[in-house]
Amino acid sequence: MRILLLGFGNIGRAFCEIVEAKTPVLREKYGIECRFVGIATRSRGCATDPNGIDVETLLKRESSTGRLDTPSSGRRRVTLSASEMVSEMDYDLLVVCTSTTIQSPEIPKAYIRGGLERGKDVITSNKGPLFLAYRELNDLAAERGTLFLFEAAVMGGTPFFSFARHSLVGSEIISCEGVMNTTSNYILDLMVGGSSFDDALLDARRKGFAEADPTFDLEGWDSAVKASIIAQVLMGAPPVSLENMNVQGINKIKTGLLLEAARSGGAIRLVSRVEREEGSVSITVRPEVLPPSNPLSRVHGATNGVLFLTDTLGEIFVAGGGIGPKHTAYSMLRDLIEIAVSRKAR
Ligand SMILES: NC(=O)c1ccc[n+]([C@@H]2O[C@H](COP(=O)([O-])OP(=O)(O)OC[C@H]3O[C@@H](n4cnc5c(N)ncnc54)[C@H](OP(=O)(O)O)[C@@H]3O)[C@@H](O)[C@H]2O)c1
Repeated sequence: MRILLLGFGNIGRAFCEIVEAKTPVLREKYGIECRFVGIATRSRGCATDPNGIDVETLLKRESSTGRLDTPSSGRRRVTLSASEMVSEMDYDLLVVCTSTTIQSPEIPKAYIRGGLERGKDVITSNKGPLFLAYRELNDLAAERGTLFLFEAAVMGGTPFFSFARHSLVGSEIISCEGVMNTTSNYILDLMVGGSSFDDALLDARRKGFAEADPTFDLEGWDSAVKASIIAQVLMGAPPVSLENMNVQGINKIKTGLLLEAARSGGAIRLVSRVEREEGSVSITVRPEVLPPSNPLSRVHGATNGVLFLTDTLGEIFVAGGGIGPKHTAYSMLRDLIEIAVSRKAR
């Protein structure tokens, strides 16, 4: 399978590394031979090789020069843009893990559309294009007979969309409530342990669990975006703009309330709730007091958890301990294997 990878930051690098590390398993267990034929960045050049890029050499070059390309002696670098690579190169699978913001998802969306229009399978870790245009992209994939998968985009290391797609196949998902923002969850736990909000945030930053600007996480918007993607993917809801969502984060939470919930054996968690309601889907995000009987009350620190309510099995709880590039890259590997297996049957 020839892979074109867009974005070579934390996730792009980790994805290359896991594909390299799992080469024997991919080959022996699934009969998959992968090679990266193109890797693009925004500002640090690109690498291409139709016979397969030597990833180890590329990683060494990147760590010594900061760039992916090699300067040809005395001449300017000749480099392809990511969109040229999408529209001109020969590849089977497009992997989009460029950085994006929810306010500007148009560029990765155009990359994804470009790949799907050419009949390529696509994987992405970007929330932006899903939030903006899941149905449009999914319809295009269906029309072109390709797969569009995005396990890494919501709750990185926790099996979520693949779990719903495979393990809940044939079930109706009536509601889905989850602890989906690890920054907020980590801070809530530290506050119960006696830290002030500011100290807890500082600690989260030091450990790499919080962005330089954590507003999007702490005001609940990250959880709201994830909930909206879930509503679109699992319940067929239309996209909702952030202004039209009922969202409250943990930024105004009082320690006294957290301690009161803990004393009763439960916990306050930032809960994203997506529910089917008489022909529509409602989304709320807010801190909720959860009793000890709710498994989400036991989702601690920088972890995720989600409770599905289904018409077949009742409640099903899935939790994952993993955040960060390695876990996210594994989610993308899972998508890659699903795509490779499905390609054999096409
Ligand atoms: N980090 C995580 O744990 C995590 C978890 C789940 C999902 N995600 C999502 O995965 C994506 C990647 O995250 P990351 O942490 O790897 O980000 P990152 O370290 O900032 O890397 C982003 C990469 O994308 C490249 N890029 C940005 N805009 C581009 C464009 N228009 N065309 C081509 N390349 C472009 C950047 O190029 P330059 O090198 O030139 O800047 C960089 O190589 C994001 O959408 C993020 O939300 C991340």
